[in-house]
Amino acid sequence: MFLAAPARACGIDFGTSNSTVGWLRPNHPPLLALEDGHATLPSVIFFNVEENSTSVGRAALNEYLAGYEGRLMRALKSLLGSSLMEGKTEVQGRSLPYMELLSQFMVELKRRAETAAGRSFDQAVFGRPVFFVDDDAAADRKAEATLEAIARASGFKEVCFQYEPIAAAYHYERQIDREELVLVADIGGGTTDFSLIRLSPQRARNTDRREDLLANGGVHIGGTNFDRQLSLAGVMPLLGYRSMLKRGLDMPSSHYMNLATWHTINQVYTRRTWAELQELYLDSQAPEALDRLLKLIRERSGHWLAIQVEAAKIALSDGEKVTLNLDKLTPNLQHTLTRLEFELASAQLVERIGTTLSTLLATAGVSHEKVDTVFFTGGASGVPMVRERIASLLPQARRIEEDLFGSIGAGLAVEAIRRFG
Ligand SMILES: Nc1ncnc2c1ncn2[C@@H]1O[C@H](COP(=O)(O)OP(=O)(O)OP(=O)(O)O)[C@@H](O)[C@H]1O
Ligand SMILES: [Mg+2]
Repeated sequence: MFLAAPARACGIDFGTSNSTVGWLRPNHPPLLALEDGHATLPSVIFFNVEENSTSVGRAALNEYLAGYEGRLMRALKSLLGSSLMEGKTEVQGRSLPYMELLSQFMVELKRRAETAAGRSFDQAVFGRPVFFVDDDAAADRKAEATLEAIARASGFKEVCFQYEPIAAAYHYERQIDREELVLVADIGGGTTDFSLIRLSPQRARNTDRREDLLANGGVHIGGTNFDRQLSLAGVMPLLGYRSMLKRGLDMPSSHYMNLATWHTINQVYTRRTWAELQELYLDSQAPEALDRLLKLIRERSGHWLAIQVEAAKIALSDGEKVTLNLDKLTPNLQHTLTRLEFELASAQLVERIGTTLSTLLATAGVSHEKVDTVFFTGGASGVPMVRERIASLLPQARRIEEDLFGSIGAGLAVEAIRRFG
């Protein structure tokens, strides 16, 4: 695409784990630097009680990990479409609606993009997953409307949406010189999205691409679900998950579920949970494990543990095993997790991703040998088992994996030119 002048609008990839902003202008790469030269801004916000300040991105994670008292929120996008969205959370002694919390992040994302670009943006194309909510069209529309309201509250005057995998396709299309039928597989932090689309330099000039898009599909499974499964299988048992009470009952699992799920971690910090766990402690057959759980909650270390689990998961993409250092919970406690353990824990997730893709291919009526290329994007496509499952359905297709974190934002920038000039 030849560019004579900078685009009027930007593209915003508000991701579950990372956000990016793309903007096309002559002789520059498409992504704006949002934090210390990085194109990605982790979708994290930290309310620092000690300093009475708020930070986002890597700085937020660093302040939390440095031990500042406060509240960390991650996987903000997972709140969209969830019942939590209507509610509030306690932050710095006051009750903050989740809606406002997401707006605070968005305002900062916009501000950083504008600083990097040296101009302001009134218009933006926002990415959205194919489904914010699986199997519930009304809830899905509501999630998009909520994101639009957040975008407007953050200062964007004109907002439109494009599916994230289609955006990635437009980014890839800028690199090819002949026609290809491409399956985009975007496996992010919160969702897995697929688009089957015909791409070529000639087609790229058309404004209406409906004929080129053969199918779109997705499922609400991403890297955060893999974290959760690994945590429940490999780490939460050390804190008493699946242990027994003296009266012969199972230890309740809800607190472990909350701790293993990024966007519900803060729910274990309520006084009610604390009182309940004190009682369970007296009844537990595994007091040593519950000691760890209580210490974790007392020190507000839920996100610290989730960060260890996520890092372990990423290490298992390359290695066969990884050792977690958990001496924050018990002095000298080390725990080794293996690739096999991870694969067993997440086999069902991979199966559901595989089924979603085979249904999509069947519905599109496209036989697998017609697909020329699988374009992988999204951080969680780093999980070998997921890549293999997808590739096994399209054995003849060429596989492309590039910058797993940048193609959606870069593609949304292409879409922004199409829509706003
Ligand atoms: N090498 C790796 N192996 C496995 N998983 C990885 C790797 N690198 C990153 N991840 C995971 O990728 C996920 C983040 O990917 P990405 O930034 O593409 O998501 P996102 O765009 O924020 O989410 P979504 O598009 O679903 O809203 C995280 O769950 C992270 O743990
Ligand atoms: Mg994404």
